[in-house]
Amino acid sequence: ADTQTGNIPQSVSSTCMACHGMTGIAPQGAMFPDLAGQWAPYLVKQLDNFRSHTRADPMAKAIMWGMAASLTPAQVQHVADYYSKQIPAKGKMVNQKLAAAGKKIFEGGISNKQVPACMACHGPTGLGDPPLFPRLAGQRQAYVVLQLNYFKKGLRTNDPHAIMRYVASRLSEAQITELATYVRSL
Ligand code: HEM
Ligand code: HEM
Repeated sequence: ADTQTGNIPQSVSSTCMACHGMTGIAPQGAMFPDLAGQWAPYLVKQLDNFRSHTRADPMAKAIMWGMAASLTPAQVQHVADYYSKQIPAKGKMVNQKLAAAGKKIFEGGISNKQVPACMACHGPTGLGDPPLFPRLAGQRQAYVVLQLNYFKKGLRTNDPHAIMRYVASRLSEAQITELATYVRSL
């Protein structure tokens, strides 16, 4: 049932907030993604992918498969709409030097490794572009590092046309850290 606490879907307040926060801002220092301000169609796709087991990286399997399994399609839509309307966290500058290096790749790619500019799909300031391209601006650094490594190692395979697997497979560990630091600062 879709009972509500104010405007908050009951499925959010009871189940998801421990890791994603009541308003979609994840607790500090964890691997949980912020969901606030993320595009609803992207959130629906991810929840559907957890439910169908097409997003099958280790953390998805360990945690999100179980969480998403109990949601009805109506609740998936409801939860996605709710989180998409929350105010995203403000960007946080953690390290200027790493962020500057990340910005270069984000905006210009790496031509000798055939890495396209991230901004071609995720937007010049990381706001994303629905329905396919998620917002990255302000996203948790540890989560972004984790996902880029999952793509790089072929553990997360729900990206359309394997585009993120292609991109991430050409990034070094250092470049992944730089990109995650930059994205967090946006
Ligand atoms: C990822 C929603 C409960 C931990 C995600 C994502 C969504 C989501 C949409 C993908 C985000 C993205 O791709 O940017 C929800 C909803 C929940 C819920 C609607 C409640 C029904 C929880 C709980 C935990 C948790 C309770 C912790 C125990 C995680 C983790 C990830 C994640 C670790 C990353 C998974 C990965 O690396 O593949 N969640 N979540 N979630 N969530 Fe949840
Ligand atoms: C997803 C980073 C380039 C298309 C993601 C995610 C990250 C990311 C961290 C996961 C978001 C989440 O889980 O919330 C980057 C970086 C790039 C880059 C750092 C540059 C080095 C691109 C390009 C494209 C693209 C050039 C398009 C040609 C996508 C798509 C998804 C995605 C479609 C969603 C996959 C899904 O549906 O699960 N990207 N990206 N990205 N990215 Fe990128």
